[in-house]
Amino acid sequence: MGLAFGYRAFGGPEVQEFFDRPDPRPAPHEVAVAVTAAGVNPIDYMLRAGAIPGLNGGLPFPQVLGMEAAGIVTAIGADVAGLVVGDRVFGFALTGAGTYAHRTVLLGSATARTPAGLSDAWAATIPVAGTTALDALDQLGLPSGARLLVNGIGGGVGVATAQLARARGLDVVGTASTSKRDIAASTGAAFVDYTEGQVEGSLRALVPDGFDGIVDTVGGVSLRAVAPLALEPSRVISIGDVSVTEIGGAAVDRHTDRPTLERVAELMLQGVLDPHITAVHPLEHAAKALADVESAHSIGKTVLELSEIPSP
Ligand SMILES: NC(=O)c1ccc[n+]([C@@H]2O[C@H](COP(=O)([O-])OP(=O)(O)OC[C@H]3O[C@@H](n4cnc5c(N)ncnc54)[C@H](OP(=O)(O)O)[C@@H]3O)[C@@H](O)[C@H]2O)c1
Repeated sequence: MGLAFGYRAFGGPEVQEFFDRPDPRPAPHEVAVAVTAAGVNPIDYMLRAGAIPGLNGGLPFPQVLGMEAAGIVTAIGADVAGLVVGDRVFGFALTGAGTYAHRTVLLGSATARTPAGLSDAWAATIPVAGTTALDALDQLGLPSGARLLVNGIGGGVGVATAQLARARGLDVVGTASTSKRDIAASTGAAFVDYTEGQVEGSLRALVPDGFDGIVDTVGGVSLRAVAPLALEPSRVISIGDVSVTEIGGAAVDRHTDRPTLERVAELMLQGVLDPHITAVHPLEHAAKALADVESAHSIGKTVLELSEIPSP
């Protein structure tokens, strides 16, 4: 048995609770892990709210929060190649299996070895934010010197996108609220504070000819305000708002396989990508960690670290 944090019905934070659950056993395509760190992401509270029924609407309760984790392999399904019990790994959990827990199961094809020199906390941020940033930039395929707007630069995906873009030689401008000024500057991006109003005018003043590409992490009204600044509508990639297609843009095309996880880990080892973990909480404080992310104004990444790691 191990501690897990989840919910027995869809709803707000009031449905969340800790409970003991039997250690999940891996199906043939899964690996069981003792979790050492788990990333906290907006999709966690969206799933808890029942806002994405296509992902977890039909799954049994209780469901456990969390999509990504680092940990130590404790058992391996028969169809999973390339990993052995005792490996340090990171990857995607099955929806509902969760990662805010002492133990869980990860998808074997979406789990990679954690390289020596990379902390479990950093590795735990790769599956969701890290690979999404990489996917968005690969999709745009902009050449060195191109101008990129990151709409919403201060969150987990935004700060990763800006760093990876700078490493590709792009000129980056980012929008965020005032508290994100320093983190935006640390990536080498120019900064526009959307709380000062006139975002479109401020961006046009900075880049009068428009942007070669836009990576949007905000969606909605904010996306529609900045989208006209792209030289071509098709160069607008939104990671959170699929209605971007209505204005000629595209939703991010996701890759969650092991080679993509390994690419992002390598970029961390090379010093290209720092996930900017600004909040680390013990599992017992998972409600506070998720509330911070749910406020939509957390900076960089929030991570749960498990102080007591169960032996395999
Ligand atoms: N498709 C996928 O696979 C995928 C993967 C990862 C994430 N996502 C989605 O992408 C979105 C962002 O994810 P995340 O992990 O980066 O979230 P996050 O860490 O919570 O960051 C969101 C950021 O948006 C900023 N923001 C809110 N309103 C804004 C506005 N009007 N203009 C500029 N910035 C604004 C917030 O900062 P301020 O304080 O500056 O407002 C916050 O830093 C979420 O909807 C998430 O579900 C999708």
